[in-house]
Amino acid sequence: MFINKNLIGFAGNYKKKLLFVSFLQALQTLTLSAISLLTAFIVKRLIRNFEATVFDDLWSIFVAIFSLVILRFAISKYASVQALKCSVGIKRNLRTRLQKKIFVLGPAYTGKHRTGGIVSTIWSKVEWLNDYYAKYVPSAISAIINTIIIFAILILIDPIVAITCLLFSAAVLVCPIAFYQIMKDKGFKEASASAKYYSDCLDGIQGIVTLKSFNSNDKQREKINNQGEILRKTIMQHLSITFLENLTLEFFARLGAAATVVVGIVRALNGNMEIENLVYILFLSTAWLNPMSAMISAWHKGYRGATGAEKISDMLKQDTSISLFNKFEENIDNLSYLINNDNNRNLDVSFIDVNFFYNKKEKQVLKNISFNIPNGTTLAIVGPSGSGKSTIANLLCGFYRTDTGSIKVGDKILNEENVLSIQNQISAVWQENYLFYGTCYDNILMGNPNATHEEVINATKRANIHNFIMNLENGYDTVVGERGVRLSSGEKQRISIARAFLKDTPLIIFDEATSALDRRNEIAIQNSLNKLIAGKTTLVIAHRLETIKNAEQILVLRDGFIEGTGTHKELLGKSNFYQKLMSIQV
Ligand SMILES: Nc1ncnc2c1ncn2[C@@H]1O[C@H](COP(=O)(O)OP(=O)(O)O)[C@@H](O)[C@H]1O
Ligand SMILES: [Mg+2]
Repeated sequence: MFINKNLIGFAGNYKKKLLFVSFLQALQTLTLSAISLLTAFIVKRLIRNFEATVFDDLWSIFVAIFSLVILRFAISKYASVQALKCSVGIKRNLRTRLQKKIFVLGPAYTGKHRTGGIVSTIWSKVEWLNDYYAKYVPSAISAIINTIIIFAILILIDPIVAITCLLFSAAVLVCPIAFYQIMKDKGFKEASASAKYYSDCLDGIQGIVTLKSFNSNDKQREKINNQGEILRKTIMQHLSITFLENLTLEFFARLGAAATVVVGIVRALNGNMEIENLVYILFLSTAWLNPMSAMISAWHKGYRGATGAEKISDMLKQDTSISLFNKFEENIDNLSYLINNDNNRNLDVSFIDVNFFYNKKEKQVLKNISFNIPNGTTLAIVGPSGSGKSTIANLLCGFYRTDTGSIKVGDKILNEENVLSIQNQISAVWQENYLFYGTCYDNILMGNPNATHEEVINATKRANIHNFIMNLENGYDTVVGERGVRLSSGEKQRISIARAFLKDTPLIIFDEATSALDRRNEIAIQNSLNKLIAGKTTLVIAHRLETIKNAEQILVLRDGFIEGTGTHKELLGKSNFYQKLMSIQV
């Protein structure tokens, strides 16, 4: 509890530095105790023999005290800089680890957790660790070392006095155990409330258009205010327990210092100890009390760190087997060499008896899905919304694991060894595509970071977005805003299609990729799209008849199972369900 296992683990390669900082802090504390001891020595000499000449004997001790004061000042400045460097380094490493973890876990994790909660762990909870490393650990270690040394000196003076001091030290160190559980509960409540508050605020900001258009600002504001009130209450409850605990500890510490002196006086009065030694006891009890008080006031920071650490540890311990990318956690900074470009040009795609649940407690989303897309052909999937079409695309991209059954791409069964190489051969355009805060150019370049300027322009021309971009204020250097907010959904979609043109892979996924385009734009780029998919293995989740009609195969999905397969003509002849779907379309 004094030194939290998780937190020491997080220190990683900063462990030695952390130990060094604690050593410096202990040295600083011990310097102070030495100054007290020397001062006590001078005072004792003065009481025994107060003459002007006494300074002739004691000058060397004055010099020693003066040197110690300078030394202590230097150590304290150096130690605080080192402590800060240490905690900043640990925080940076930890944030990098958490980000890697999120990228490895992917949509299977982010789909189940609120963004605000994730950000709050990576940002606030990691921030909570600052004082743990910079203040709590050094002050706890130095208070303990200081207590041991003062106890050793007191034993030389008088064992009974020493034991009194030791008993109170034990009380101060053991008392937190009694508060541990309640502090932990309150800490967790505060951590959860702050994550929820953060998430609600983020939700409100991201959904501001919807809130405005439904005139629901007040409701969301009220929700945020209520959560803010809950957060305030949990912080106050946490603080009041902390206050109570601090009060108890301070009480024992101060009582301990007083009791040590009183026991010393009684011992001296009873003739068990030289009365002059009381001077030492007086100074040493203060030298014991000060570091103890510093440690007590750092307690709360230590607890907070431990609470944050559990949230962080929960995220770091997340089972990566939910995602196919779990093999790459260690190498995520340098994935390129892991991609095996074996120029496998036979890219038949097969689903073999695939069953899938997003959540075992909910309905089964895909049921015994089997199909084969021969190399270079197109399979279109149609079906009502919610029937599982996008889920098939998600599985092919390796975002989730199938529960049973397998997916074959070329001659390889999709697994954690080859997911990166296979993904490198897929371009996907989704119904909703994410644009990052940055320029149009950078957003398109994401499709292929090694592309030349000419290739980028060529891709945007084919996606019918070049002229639009050229008319923007700064052309390709125009910043698209967060999530591409300054573009219409059709423009965003055309930028995403340009990305796919630029990536130019043998396997293509279109998940309602043209749904946000108006007819004019769709017709304008249909020709380019046809060129893009010509000769490539393509999975099209389609909402328009034209795209479906030309597909070599159509798969009709209903409620997670395959209702029928065939060409457009065949299906019209044999499937009522397909006829109904098409009649709605027309
Ligand atoms: N991340 C998710 N977590 C839980 N359930 C999901 C998730 N994504 C989709 N679903 C559910 O899976 C089913 C199929 O969804 P989806 O494949 O997106 O349908 P479609 O693309 O055919 O409209 C739906 O019932 C949907 O609610
Ligand atoms: Mg969908």
